[in-house]
Amino acid sequence: MTLSQNFQYVALADEIEAGITNGRFEPGEKLPSLRKLHLQMGISISTVHQAYIELEKRGRVEAKEKSGFYVRALNGNPMKRPPLLKIKTEPCRVMVNDLAKTINQDLQSDDILMLGAAVPSKDLMPLKQLSRIMKSMPADFLQHHMSNYDLCAGNADLRDALSKRMPGPAFSISAEDIIITSGCLDAVSLCLRSVAGPGDAVLVESPAFHFFLQLIEDLNMYVVEVPGCPETGMNPETFKEALASHKIKVCILNSNFQNPLGSVMSSKNKARILSIAKEYDVPIIEDDIYGDLFYGDKRPATFKSMDKTGLVLYCSSFSKALAPGLRTGWTVPGRYKDAVLRMKLNNTISSPGIIQSVIAEFIKTGAYDRHLRQLRNKLKNQASAMAMAVSRYFPKDTRITFPRGGMFIWVELNKKYDSLEIYQQAYQKKISILPGVLCSSSDRYKNCLRINCGLRWSPRLENAIKTMGEIINQLS
Ligand SMILES: Cc1ncc(COP(=O)(O)O)c(C=O)c1O
Repeated sequence: MTLSQNFQYVALADEIEAGITNGRFEPGEKLPSLRKLHLQMGISISTVHQAYIELEKRGRVEAKEKSGFYVRALNGNPMKRPPLLKIKTEPCRVMVNDLAKTINQDLQSDDILMLGAAVPSKDLMPLKQLSRIMKSMPADFLQHHMSNYDLCAGNADLRDALSKRMPGPAFSISAEDIIITSGCLDAVSLCLRSVAGPGDAVLVESPAFHFFLQLIEDLNMYVVEVPGCPETGMNPETFKEALASHKIKVCILNSNFQNPLGSVMSSKNKARILSIAKEYDVPIIEDDIYGDLFYGDKRPATFKSMDKTGLVLYCSSFSKALAPGLRTGWTVPGRYKDAVLRMKLNNTISSPGIIQSVIAEFIKTGAYDRHLRQLRNKLKNQASAMAMAVSRYFPKDTRITFPRGGMFIWVELNKKYDSLEIYQQAYQKKISILPGVLCSSSDRYKNCLRINCGLRWSPRLENAIKTMGEIINQLS
């Protein structure tokens, strides 16, 4: 086989595998025949065959005699995806802080396997490269930054680099439109407090990222939970119903690879949701922290990229794509920029300048894009291995999501299970998971859990999933 043929079959296998991962081909589905792909793509039949053999080796497809190649169902037993929940969307008070506090404390221990957190493994972060940049900084530069407050809006180089990276078509987003924050949650918090106050109602997708709920609870606001579909996120018409029925002050939406479902709203739905928000004049705080971690070929769109009127307060950070300890995020708050800047000045004054310079340099040299390409690939494979392990060891009526980006699998067990009990038993075995009950202001998702796929796949991880399966099975 020549070098170019070799490249062709691997490239074709990669392309089909991306289609399986991003949901274009479903588990159990028959893949296009050798002949069809040969004609469609102008590739020889033997190269197409070679690609399918490669996918068989990777465990992604299986050959059925005299029939063709099929997407391999996980462990031969495809788990169903969780259905869309029907929930009431009444405004209510939130009370998740006490439980969240206990769980966050539990996560501080080093010997716990962090399946409940939302972080990549340390060895997937470019820590050496970042340290090298920091070490190369002249002493007077470091001393200058340590002895002064930086600009409230943030380092100009970093804001410039970020403005060039904003997912397009950007409506002329420049460095001046961006405010650097201490992470994404800080950005969301500054934005929320700039547009709403105590007693206001905030719309979130349900199940929700528990820190949004904790924030809403602390700020003495009400929450309105609108159900999210595990695949496509919130339905625009349900969103409209909620805005028509309740006096919503602001929405916080995780547009891409939502925490905890991993869902992605289509561009069409995002455009519709934005036009409804505009009709009701309700701002959208868009948390796009996972947007760059897509497993397919293309980054999904953002609300911000469609926002012509400044109604979207875009928020993100480097916590998932680079390293959480950098505590560096940003917001593009549109028409609310002055209010958010004032809120930042009154809260943190400015963000640490040295870290911002390190990140700006990392982006400028192209190292960030190279790192992202590798990270996406690793996360995709880890998520796939995690889904297979869950399907192998958890009870057969379990439903799981197949993420197309980000770092979670959402698991829905039979209603008889209590994920808090599973959490407690798993913790005794030094495994942490996130119990679903934290993801709602009411008693929903008791039988659900969120599992982190950010950790490098290893026998220890597989064993942990096996142990979880044993705990669950013994509870029945
Ligand atoms: C949706 C979402 N937003 C924000 C955060 C927190 O980000 P940061 O660490 O940058 O504050 C997380 C972390 O889990 C998250 O999942």
